[in-house]
Amino acid sequence: MDAPQLPIGSAPDHSALGDADSGHALSSSRPIVVKTEGLRKVYRTGFWLNQKIVPLKDCSLQVHQGETFGLLGQNGAGKTTLLKMLLGIIRPTAGQGTLLGQPLGDRRTKQDVGYLPENAYFYDFLTAWEFLKYTAGLFQIPAATQRQRISELFDLVGLSQASARKKQLRQYSKGMLQRVGMAQALINDPQVVFLDEPMSGLDPLGRYQMREIILSLKAQGKTIFFNSHVLSDVEKICDRVAILARGELLCMGSLSELLGSADRYQVKVRHGNPEVLRRWIPDLDFQDNCWQGHLRGDPQDFLASLELMGAEMIAMNLARTSLEEFFVQQLRQRGIHTSE
Ligand SMILES: Nc1ncnc2c1ncn2[C@@H]1O[C@H](COP(=O)(O)OP(=O)(O)OP(=O)(O)O)[C@@H](O)[C@H]1O
Ligand SMILES: [Mg+2]
Repeated sequence: MDAPQLPIGSAPDHSALGDADSGHALSSSRPIVVKTEGLRKVYRTGFWLNQKIVPLKDCSLQVHQGETFGLLGQNGAGKTTLLKMLLGIIRPTAGQGTLLGQPLGDRRTKQDVGYLPENAYFYDFLTAWEFLKYTAGLFQIPAATQRQRISELFDLVGLSQASARKKQLRQYSKGMLQRVGMAQALINDPQVVFLDEPMSGLDPLGRYQMREIILSLKAQGKTIFFNSHVLSDVEKICDRVAILARGELLCMGSLSELLGSADRYQVKVRHGNPEVLRRWIPDLDFQDNCWQGHLRGDPQDFLASLELMGAEMIAMNLARTSLEEFFVQQLRQRGIHTSE
């Protein structure tokens, strides 16, 4: 059965924020914020419009309130295409979806949605302050609250207010523009934030700050949907991830669903009785003069048992693969080695 849809303007639930791993079970009981069913996009190109490009094929997914959802994929995988469709910037060729309980593209959702575009074009000759005032005006934020909101946002994204008042946007570096972009995405205190490559162009401190900003939005109960290439950041931030390749969703789930449990150990032991070892290591294998496999049971008890049988522990490592390894595996399994 579907989870209830979230009506526009309803207050976010701040009560039960899941951590990155237990997130899914918890969050799947919350209202659905983003839902797509068989979403597909076809572009026709060429002089006679006789060539077809299919950046997105039958994409079905759900994101629940308060979730941080990461969409991963190589260049050209279709991430921006999907994001733009969710925001109603481009229309799907087939399929349907809802955002905050309304059909994709419905104007009523705009007030509750923030968006940081991938390659944002800002008005070069406005100062950052003027630009934020302009976007605040689009959301009809009263002048009395604009000033405070804008200065809070510049503090949040780590930009000097003094230079934001003086410096025109054409004088900002790429990373600084990215921060301005983040500030404008939050000007309307949105319930749902769409971020297309938020770490792009940022230095290490900037990336760290961006991660902190995203985590603080998450702590406020906001729903965050973001595209990224930086898998280590995704691993630190996301409740759930999906991998998109050549327009197809390859897999989707919480990090523990995809990568395995964090407390699973890969062990390597020399000597010892294989009969006894097999009780601890069901997938026991003999390689390089050592017994190896995945440990089942309490590591302390296992160490005591090794001592009793006179075996020697050679290595014991957490068995969880990194998101990067998982990502590469998923693509290789499908024979995908290039971006297009
Ligand atoms: N307007 C368009 N007309 C024709 N093809 C398009 C159009 N927009 C995007 N595409 C194609 O759709 C595919 C997916 O593009 P998209 O921008 O969604 O990828 P992406 O996953 O966001 O990539 P990146 O990581 O580089 O941002 C690409 O092959 C791209 O060339
Ligand atoms: Mg993109």
